[in-house]
Amino acid sequence: MDDALRQAIELLLDPPAHPDVSRGYLDLLQSGTDAPSNSGVIQKAWASRAGSMLYDHAQLLNRRLLSATRPPLDWLGVPPGGIALDVGSGPGNITAALARAVGPGGAALGVDISEAMLERAVAAQAGPRVGFVRADAQRLPFRDASFDAVVSLAALQLMPDVVAAASEMVRVLRPGCRIAVMVPTVGPAAAMRVLAKGGARFFDEDELGDVFEGLGLAGVRTRTRGPIQWVRGQKA
Ligand SMILES: C[S@@+](CC[C@H](N)C(=O)[O-])C[C@H]1O[C@@H](n2cnc3c(N)ncnc32)[C@H](O)[C@@H]1O
Repeated sequence: MDDALRQAIELLLDPPAHPDVSRGYLDLLQSGTDAPSNSGVIQKAWASRAGSMLYDHAQLLNRRLLSATRPPLDWLGVPPGGIALDVGSGPGNITAALARAVGPGGAALGVDISEAMLERAVAAQAGPRVGFVRADAQRLPFRDASFDAVVSLAALQLMPDVVAAASEMVRVLRPGCRIAVMVPTVGPAAAMRVLAKGGARFFDEDELGDVFEGLGLAGVRTRTRGPIQWVRGQKA
């Protein structure tokens, strides 16, 4: 087992007696989850092999062209040798970028609910410093204050209980460390109607910033570029 998965197991609230890492990721969802689940067509697509492949290609192109879709790695300031968490990690390239930003001795973990996405992430990105966990972001399996940075890109809009997911991100972050979240916001009405019909929500200008402030994050900043919004903050 790679070191990153070993680290993931060490950080668990309730480590299983026989962790299942048979598919290259740590699977914590075999027995199901009682957190609310998303049955919309968008999440169904991300849970399928074809949909996850399409998404993977689209996001690579998107990130090459649009700097607003890339995470603020320098701003996160993960200390050398630290550990970062990517929530709703999809194909895992952001998780791998986080691990590179942490530098030697550090690691990054990605959490996702979709087996198809995790399969792609493991094939393309997993290694000694990059590990993936199948779990629900609305009930993260990690102990409090486990991570030196937490990011989540284009994933919160798919979660039925956004406040639970945001609160979990803050809970697992160490005091003094930073969080950066990217979500779709109120943008061109037609695109937003498509998202809403597909089971993804979009956020009002101050909505997510207010949620994170309510959870005690300090210095919360929101930046919106067209239909993309970044919310950043620091745990006191
Ligand atoms: C649009 S993709 C974004 C992937 C990646 N963050 C990126 O930016 O390329 C959204 C991801 O969130 C995951 N997701 C949705 N609901 C989730 C949940 N409750 N817990 C964990 N992951 C979830 C989906 O399976 C999907 O892989």
